[in-house]
Amino acid sequence: QVAAASGHTVVLVDQSDEILKKSTKGIEESLKRVTKKKFADKPEAGTEFIKNTLKNLTTSTDAASVVHSTDLVIEAIVENLEVKNELFKTLDKFAPEHTIFASNTSSLQITKMANATTRQDRFGGLHFFNPVPMMKLVEVIKTPMTSQKTFESLMDFSKAVGKSPVSCKDTPGFIVNRLLVPYMMEAVRLFERGDASKEDIDVAMKLGAGYPMGPFELLDYVGLDTSKYIIDGWHSLEPNNPLFAPSPLLNKLVEEKKLGKKTGEGFYKYK
Ligand code: 3HC
Repeated sequence: QVAAASGHTVVLVDQSDEILKKSTKGIEESLKRVTKKKFADKPEAGTEFIKNTLKNLTTSTDAASVVHSTDLVIEAIVENLEVKNELFKTLDKFAPEHTIFASNTSSLQITKMANATTRQDRFGGLHFFNPVPMMKLVEVIKTPMTSQKTFESLMDFSKAVGKSPVSCKDTPGFIVNRLLVPYMMEAVRLFERGDASKEDIDVAMKLGAGYPMGPFELLDYVGLDTSKYIIDGWHSLEPNNPLFAPSPLLNKLVEEKKLGKKTGEGFYKYK
């Protein structure tokens, strides 16, 4: 959405037409929200903006057949290294020489994905934040193999889509998640111990720390499955780090498919 809205030609790829239909509908709705604000007193310019953005966006279920004409691939599939590597390996065969590959992973090592391809110097991380149309940050990740030219291209692309990039080495969680995920897990532990209700913890962090959402609202917003993938991955890397300890409550909710806002229930219920 943000790439198309800033004049880039985008092909959105997913596994089925049904998912793509849902994604396109989500983008249309989000564009309406953005437009309402951006073109508050110029509704015609707003309609034109939506039309032009959607013109830049097509969809496909066949990544291999569209990658031959792309300059940049941004992968945002399931947080599973084998699955990501399989995809990158395939795309590597069909993409032109100059194409840069980037992963939007929340917590996996970019270096391991780059090593699944033959373009380690043209591989980096581009980590966006939910909701992407609103959040101004992008973390640009440079592995020891990412070339300076690739790094600069990723920084330039981030600016071209209207974001403020920061750079970080390829370390677990980069900057934001390394600080945010242990904080959210501490909130769950506080609640699990019965020290405070989740509602009060959320109110406390909003009113006492100025956060736009409390940790439980944010966990539901990000998705409990995503949060669990992140914490489990880090726990296996550093089993003795108490900040990365798994939470029985989080595990139970994920097992019950209560994944947050997207499934209608997580820590809270949504209609
Ligand atoms: N698309 C377009 N516009 C959107 C939007 C979307 N998906 N979501 C919200 N907006 C717009 C609304 O239209 C609204 O515009 P307005 O000011 O003109 O009315 C504006 O954002 C504010 O929205 P709301 O009034 O509905 O609600 P809030 O004021 O609470 O703002 C929020 C919503 C921007 C999501 C805010 O609560 C927030 O910043 N929350 C924290 C988000 C955060 O921490 N994200 C990072 C998560 S970590 C992550 O993503 C990393 C990953 O690896 C796990």
